[in-house]
Formats: sequence, C-alpha cells, structure tokens
Amino acid sequence: MHRSAPFIRLCRTIGAKERLWITRFKLKQKGEIMGKIDFGGVIEEVITSEEFSLERAREVLKNEKITVLGYGVQGPGQALNLKDNGFSVIIGQQEGEDYWDKAVADGFVPGETLFPIEEAAKRGTMILYLLSDAGQVATWNRVKACLNKGDALYFSHGFSIVYKDQTGIIPPPTVDVIMVAPKGSGRTVRTNFLDGSGINSSFAVHQDFTGRAKERTLALGIAIGSGYLFSTTFEKEVYSDLTGERGVLMGCLAGVMEAQYELLRKHGHSPSEAFNETVEELTQSLIRLVAENGMDWMYANCSTTAQRGALDWKGRFRDAVAPVFEELYQKVVSGEETRIVIEANSAPDYRERLEKELAQIRNSEMWRAGAAVRALRPENRNKG
Ligand SMILES: NC(=O)c1ccc[n+]([C@@H]2O[C@H](COP(=O)([O-])OP(=O)(O)OC[C@H]3O[C@@H](n4cnc5c(N)ncnc54)[C@H](OP(=O)(O)O)[C@@H]3O)[C@@H](O)[C@H]2O)c1
Repeated sequence: MHRSAPFIRLCRTIGAKERLWITRFKLKQKGEIMGKIDFGGVIEEVITSEEFSLERAREVLKNEKITVLGYGVQGPGQALNLKDNGFSVIIGQQEGEDYWDKAVADGFVPGETLFPIEEAAKRGTMILYLLSDAGQVATWNRVKACLNKGDALYFSHGFSIVYKDQTGIIPPPTVDVIMVAPKGSGRTVRTNFLDGSGINSSFAVHQDFTGRAKERTLALGIAIGSGYLFSTTFEKEVYSDLTGERGVLMGCLAGVMEAQYELLRKHGHSPSEAFNETVEELTQSLIRLVAENGMDWMYANCSTTAQRGALDWKGRFRDAVAPVFEELYQKVVSGEETRIVIEANSAPDYRERLEKELAQIRNSEMWRAGAAVRALRPENRNKG
C-alpha cells in the first residue's frame, strides 16, 4: 500500500496506539469497514470488543448451553473466563483424576456443573473440545455419539480436523465446526483476563451447518476474553502453531539458549555470568523492550556497540536456522509431527515420561543456575 511521506514521518514519531487509531481512521475514511487493520502494509480482518461487544456475545449465546470438555490447561482458562463474563458453563472431565478435583476446587459442582465427559457432551449445544489433542482422538467416538443436529463443535487448535486421517475425527455434516485458538498458554488466557487485558486469538469456521457459525465463533472468542481475534483457517492455524512452538516460541528458544550457555561455559565463564548473558538479561530487560515497542526500539535503547554487533550477526543467525525452519515446516505439513505427538501422548505412561524429560532440563546446570539467579532477584530475596 502506498504511504505518503508525511504520514510515514508522523507514524515514526507517535506510539503504537495512536498508529492503530490513525490506520483505522484512514480505512474508515476510505469507506472500508471497521475491523480491517493494516499489518505492515497487509490489510487483515480483526475483531475486538469494539466490533463485537460482550453484550452482543451474550445475545448471540443466550440460548446456548456451553460445555467445556477437559480441565487441563485451556479448559480452566476458558471456562472460568466464560463464567466470570456471565455465561453458564458445565465441565466434562474423566472422574477420579486430578483435573476433576481441580474443577471442584475452582467451584464446579459434581452433578450440577461438573460431569463425566459423555454426560457433559450430551447436555451442551456448544461443545468446547479442550481435551489434549491425543485425548480428543481417544474419546472421539463417544463424543461424536453425543452431538445433536445444530450443535457447535469448537476446537482451540486445527490439529484434530486437519490431520483427520491420523485422528479419525470427522464431524457429522449437521453440526457447526468452529475454532478459537488463543495465542498463548491457558494460564495466560486466565491471568490476562484477570488483569484486565486479554489474549489474542485466531478464529475459523470449518463447517457452517446452521448459517450462524461465524457469529457463534466470534461470540465465544469475545466471551473467553480474547484481546483481539484474527481470521485464519484450520490448516493455517495448525501449520503456524506447530511451527511456532517447535520454533522460536519454545524449541528454538531453548536450543539457542543452551548453545550460547554451553559455549560461554566451555570458555571458562561462570554459570552466573553465562546465565545472565543468555537468559536473565533477555527476560528481565530486552524482551520487555521488544514487547513494548518492537525490535528496532530495543536495538535503539542498547549501546551502539551492541547495536553494531547485533545488526551484523542477525543475518548470519537467520541464514543458519532458515534450513532448519524449512525442514520443520515440511514435517508439520506432511503430518510427521502430528504422528509423533499422537503416538507419544497416547501412551498410558505419557505423563511420567514427559516429567522425566522436563526433570532433565530442570536438573541441568544451566537451569539450576537459573533457579539461583531468579532467587537472587530483589523481589524474591526476602521471600520465606
Ligand atoms: N495448552 C495450551 O496452553 C494451549 C494453547 C492453545 C491451544 N491449545 C489447544 O487446546 C486444547 C486443549 O489443550 P490443553 O493443553 O489444555 O490440554 P491438556 O492440558 O494436555 O489436556 C488435558 C485434558 O485432556 C484430558 N485427557 C487427556 N487424555 C485423555 C483421554 N485419553 N481421555 C479423556 N481425557 C483425556 C485430561 O484429563 P485426564 O488426564 O484427567 O484424563 C485433561 O482434561 C488442545 O487442542 C490444544 O492443542 C492448548
């Protein structure tokens, strides 16, 4: 999109909030509908509570019975936000498990608002399928049998639908199949809601039986406390999500941190120094500047020595990891990654095995050094 020079100059001198306001204003002037936002020159549809209010969500969902299946990570985040926003919610969870007790501790009452999975699924008109992805595979035939004509089957990930050849999850044609996928942990879905912000979510409609699938989706997206909602497809969501978490968000992040920490240790730096230069400075200082105003802002607020070196090395790192990202994306698209996930997480002892792998990270020198560094933060030093 062409931008006039004065407009570009103006954008450079003002903050993000004002930029968003000006972009919306300009689009409105051009007759484009509200809710279309310019993301770096590409126009996308977004929905906030300005475009779709909580009151409207309440109106759209007023005759719905909302069932949340699963009380692991996303289940509690979304269910409690819905409840606090005034929606009545029931939970479906395997009885006798820790998560059942967690739902009771959070105020859900067995026989009233907390039921075994099938019982809860039968009672709902909107089924929020928030069991783990492997759990969805294991329970699908039982859940499918509980769906009625016109129900909405809701996912927070494109996994089960896109990889239907592996999951066997093919919903009947007489239900809406919709998705709201929060871009963060279920914990953050809840903590952001409680601190008055929200988490960004993508949304998609895979199957529109009732003709109301999109408004049902948006209503749920607002009702669970999304900051803003952006449009996607089930495929785009799952490809980007699986790539992101294996890549920059988790896998790549942990990998590059380990590589730098080990390099510094190999060359005689102390654990404290290696950890501070690798993790603590990032999480306590620099990434906060990136979150506030972007990467250029963070660079601009570091020394000119740091800027010069970072600008010179950025391209080398990008080029070094680009082929790994390409391989990752291809393995996501081919279904190799989901095959591994289903196999590993369907094993009866998957939680014990996972805990062993996480303990290895926790007990490594690097992350034990991290625990010591965190304990030394002034706000933690005086804690009992
Ligand atoms: N975690 C996140 O922050 C996050 C973020 C965005 C999207 N999502 C998506 O949200 C959905 C839920 O993810 P999650 O991370 O919240 O799941 P999770 O915590 O791994 O799921 C645990 C839930 O699934 C149940 N479960 C697992 N295996 C089961 C089985 N064989 N039979 C019956 N229940 C079973 C668990 O109950 P029991 O173990 O007691 O059986 C528990 O209720 C997934 O589609 C995920 O991709 C998650």
